[in-house]
Amino acid sequence: MNGITPNALGLIGETPLLALSRIHQGPGTILGKAEFVQPGGSVKDRAALRVIEDARGSGRLAPGQPVVEMTSGNMGAGLAVVCNVLDHPCIVTMSEGNSPARARMLEALGAEVVLVPQVEGTPGCVCGADIRAATERAIEIAHERQAFYVDQFNNPSCVRAHQMGTGPEIWAATGDGLDAFVAAVGTGGTFVGVSRFLKEKNPAVHCAAVEPQGAEVLAGKEVDKPCHLLQGTGYGIVPPQWDPGLVDSLLGVSDEEAARFRRSLADEEGLHVGFSSAANVCAAVKLVESGCLGLAPTVVTVLCDTGLKY
Ligand SMILES: Cc1ncc(COP(=O)(O)O)c(C=O)c1O
Repeated sequence: MNGITPNALGLIGETPLLALSRIHQGPGTILGKAEFVQPGGSVKDRAALRVIEDARGSGRLAPGQPVVEMTSGNMGAGLAVVCNVLDHPCIVTMSEGNSPARARMLEALGAEVVLVPQVEGTPGCVCGADIRAATERAIEIAHERQAFYVDQFNNPSCVRAHQMGTGPEIWAATGDGLDAFVAAVGTGGTFVGVSRFLKEKNPAVHCAAVEPQGAEVLAGKEVDKPCHLLQGTGYGIVPPQWDPGLVDSLLGVSDEEAARFRRSLADEEGLHVGFSSAANVCAAVKLVESGCLGLAPTVVTVLCDTGLKY
């Protein structure tokens, strides 16, 4: 029989590239990689699948062994999907500052959710210190339960997922017509993996990284606003797997701009996505309007996750 996907893992990757022609009518074209269509609802499904497959393949993760990770929601959702299909218990630690809808979503997906009290941020705004507290709890649980610790910030599989998947998919769809790639940075897996692949194909592809205004560490600026709306990105650190040699420009996006673009993506394009997706589209528009890419460039960016859990 044709057209049958054997399980939910077959829904990860090969996402559509959507023309955002109502938000940006030209000159030039902005295309959004629709990562939110995956079963965990975000771009992190790709990293989750690669991490678990690589760990199983190398024997670091035994059949049935529990998996633990710190998450702000999306990596946990991706891991829950993958762990369910491959029969691993999934435990996620998460700062209490994340929206309650996230914990509900993770529990609905079958993950065991361990909430960690906030250290610095306020509800809805999770800071670097909150992330560090949730990470410490994940490491403790890995020891207590003999669980495999994913460690998404340091795990090279998270970059490889995009170097082997997202990057080649974007290249196959656009090829020589591609002028730029724009992505917000959390662990940096998406930006580094995709940019590395695209620059190998064509070093002239402009790769722009997006940061929340006020937490622009990659741009070398003082962090004066560690709490911002772009959940999943802008942690106030240079990610361990960061590769500055891939960066052609760094673009800051304010909370207000992200909120405005999020509204427009829903109202004009019918896409209810999260704030980092909106920041990416906002930054792509800024890049096109700057004129640095020529008259009518083709720019690909990432629609990282669904807006339903915000
Ligand atoms: C909503 C959202 N956007 C963007 C990102 C950034 O992805 P990466 O970790 O690959 O840099 C994440 C990562 O968790 C995320 O959850």
